[in-house]
Amino acid sequence: MTSDTVLALDGLTKRFGTVLANDAVDLELRRGEVLALLGENGAGKTTLMNMLFGHYMPDAGRVRVAGEDGVLRPLPLGHPQAALAAGIGMVHQHFTLAENLNALDNIVLGSERLRALRRGRAAARRKVDGIMQRSGLVAPLDVPVGRLSVGERQRVEILKALYRDARILVLDEPTAVLTPQEADALFENIGAMTRDGLSVIFISHKLREVLAFSQRIAVLRHGRKVGEIATSDADERAIARMMVGADTPAVAREPLEPGETVLELAGASLRGRSQRDSLADLSLVVRAHEIVGVAGVSGNGQGALAEVVYGLRRPDRGQILIDGAPIARPDPLAMIRAGVGRIPEDRHRDGIVGAMSVAENMVIERLDAPEVASRGLLQKGYIRAHAEELARAHDVRGPGVEAPARLLSGGNIQKLILARVFEQGPRLILANQPTRGLDMGAAAEVARRLLDARARGAGVLLISEDLDEVLGLADRILVIHDGELHEAGSRDRAAIGLMMAGEAA
Ligand SMILES: Nc1ncnc2c1ncn2[C@@H]1O[C@H](COP(=O)(O)OP(=O)(O)OP(=O)(O)O)[C@@H](O)[C@H]1O
Ligand SMILES: [Mg+2]
Repeated sequence: MTSDTVLALDGLTKRFGTVLANDAVDLELRRGEVLALLGENGAGKTTLMNMLFGHYMPDAGRVRVAGEDGVLRPLPLGHPQAALAAGIGMVHQHFTLAENLNALDNIVLGSERLRALRRGRAAARRKVDGIMQRSGLVAPLDVPVGRLSVGERQRVEILKALYRDARILVLDEPTAVLTPQEADALFENIGAMTRDGLSVIFISHKLREVLAFSQRIAVLRHGRKVGEIATSDADERAIARMMVGADTPAVAREPLEPGETVLELAGASLRGRSQRDSLADLSLVVRAHEIVGVAGVSGNGQGALAEVVYGLRRPDRGQILIDGAPIARPDPLAMIRAGVGRIPEDRHRDGIVGAMSVAENMVIERLDAPEVASRGLLQKGYIRAHAEELARAHDVRGPGVEAPARLLSGGNIQKLILARVFEQGPRLILANQPTRGLDMGAAAEVARRLLDARARGAGVLLISEDLDEVLGLADRILVIHDGELHEAGSRDRAAIGLMMAGEAA
């Protein structure tokens, strides 16, 4: 073991019922390095980090952390406070900030609360200012976090860890919600911090950034560590094969003649709290057998557009028509009944009810169907059998259909939602960032399912920040900027990129 090792995981094992989430995993982290932790959805990445951070108690194994003197010592397990005290900081896959508090309060809140109160807010602010200066991670401190963009929230989460003097920083899919530009900026800041001695483990499904920004790569498969490689010796194909054990087949889009109009937005306007929350006189048509892609940098009205099509918000002006019929009073139920299937952007908040079982979540949009509930009673037998069949068909993996849905890994939650949507044979599918956070195999599966729906005659409105995804799947491409939609004149990456930045229309 080299003397610059700051962290060693030895044989960590974790079982959840019948699921062996981590199987005797060894991992070492060196001072000042960026280690990428890769693996398919459900491979056990988050579980491993949760044991390191004391959230989960391992069934076997130990964690050792280097002290000030560089000597590795065992960390008491199952105690987040001990992990914090040892200089381990974790930024979770899902935001954990209190939305009504401002960024500064969020940063000092928690373990350091009492000390921070004693020192007073002025001292806390000075410390945060210092961290922002050194790291280059800057966020507005006095604005309620609920009003910050996802990129800003992400920075607040990291500042929170650094405020607790983290020397080892774990980032669980930090860029899943960031634009490519924000992600690049984040990694530049991380690079600066590692030169000051910070060591970083980051989990990502984006091989481009893994190759660009890590020094080493470790791969988990089915809970076991299956490989470790210096990034300079790695390429995308080799990593993909390590992760899946095989090559991922490419997805091809057959040309199809579009059919009748399925969705029409006619001059829809919506005035929200801000520009990023508004739509300006927006018109749009999606036809059967057609995928219409909406490209754009996040925060340009995508959320407002999606909410209008979901029926969550009514336009101030203009109309929404499904199959040529205007929806008089759009609300979520009216849209579902009209044949709209929704794949929401925030799958944890809007896609599932975490406390309900996987099986119940699979029927949650048709609780009025007689086979699902009759005389006010849930038909448990049907719900279970139905869920088992759907889970098999869509490869939803995890602790079983009776378990609460919140226990599924990120990718498997998305598979659950897709299964539920596709089963209904929707006329229109609104897919909002459908492959965010998914591994390559799962992302290819989503693409295949969307193309199947298109072949069957559905229209698909695909909203995505991932330009490659839009280019790969969409028959027509629109660009959203400042709440306005424009046809992309071509499929040229650079030209569309300029439109996304608002520099051409
Ligand atoms: N608290 C829990 N109870 C039961 N099963 C769990 C629990 N937490 C995780 N699991 C299961 O353990 C396995 C590993 O999950 P984990 O969240 O670590 O995967 P992951 O590699 O982080 O996946 P993703 O890329 O989708 O985030 C999955 O099968 C998951 O369903
Ligand atoms: Mg995870």
